[in-house]
Amino acid sequence: AKSLKGRSLLCLKDFTKEELEEFIFQGEKLKIDYYAGKKEKLLDGKTIAVLFEKPSTRTRISFAVAIHELGAFPLILETSNLQLVRGETVPDTAKVMGRMVQGIVARVFAQKTLEELAEFSGVPVINALSDFSHPCQALGDFLTIKEKKGKLQGIKLTYLGDGNNVANSLLIGGSILGLDVSLGCPKGFEPAKEVIDMALHFAKKSGSKIEITNDPAEAAKNADVLYTDVWASMGQEAEHDKRVAIMKPYQINSSILSHAKEDAIVMHCLPAHRGEEITDEVLDGPHSVVFDQAENRLHIQKAILSLLI
Ligand code: CP
Ligand code: NVA
Repeated sequence: AKSLKGRSLLCLKDFTKEELEEFIFQGEKLKIDYYAGKKEKLLDGKTIAVLFEKPSTRTRISFAVAIHELGAFPLILETSNLQLVRGETVPDTAKVMGRMVQGIVARVFAQKTLEELAEFSGVPVINALSDFSHPCQALGDFLTIKEKKGKLQGIKLTYLGDGNNVANSLLIGGSILGLDVSLGCPKGFEPAKEVIDMALHFAKKSGSKIEITNDPAEAAKNADVLYTDVWASMGQEAEHDKRVAIMKPYQINSSILSHAKEDAIVMHCLPAHRGEEITDEVLDGPHSVVFDQAENRLHIQKAILSLLI
């Protein structure tokens, strides 16, 4: 098998089932160490840049803490303070960064920016969210599902609402890892055909079942995990009201929850828009695991950083 060292994490599609399982296994191990008060300095003395083109709470904090606890320095950068805003190109920026840092974590609009950062820096680049995907989120979520359900294979993961970056990563990662992924999205808001085709291809190998439907109750039926995300992602704020009207039937509320298994867990990558994609009652209720899910970003990102860099 190809070693993980030196590779970038731009999209989960570039990794095998065994490799994704290795990230999750290492995340479980580092979480145990964390609670035992053991902080192994797996990246001792390195500097990792963490670059933001968009706002972030969880990703910003979890990467800064993860990098610090691994013994490296987190160099947090906002594109708004870099010469990028004055027209310096991404390749030139990447070439400079590659001379000085040993890894780059980046939250950007375009997936292409990540590819350029990786190509021109020559150091591993980790996708901390793009308009296309959010692989660190999905990997943390698989860690959470495994903790709560004891396994991943055959677990029914239902995602309701907007077929966005988070949906793409759950669909791609889930189909590689052998979860049954059911998406309930309004017509026109399903993931792109290329993403669905990719998932169907991976599912054939892993034995996972993929369902894409416009019927939220059908999608939620017998789910082990009910998952949702914001209806208008960063950059789509102008479409907010239109999207809310279309997506209303896909809200996770107690009525939708009644279609899932009795012991179903409810997940949300956060930030939540309470009263839109999810009700307070469910988000704060006994099925919700959203803050365990948020915490697991720390543990899984330590795993990702320590295996790739
Ligand atoms: N879930 C997530 O990535 O949150 P932030 O946007 O706050 O980083
Ligand atoms: N889909 C959301 C996720 C935020 C963590 C967005 O892209 O804004």
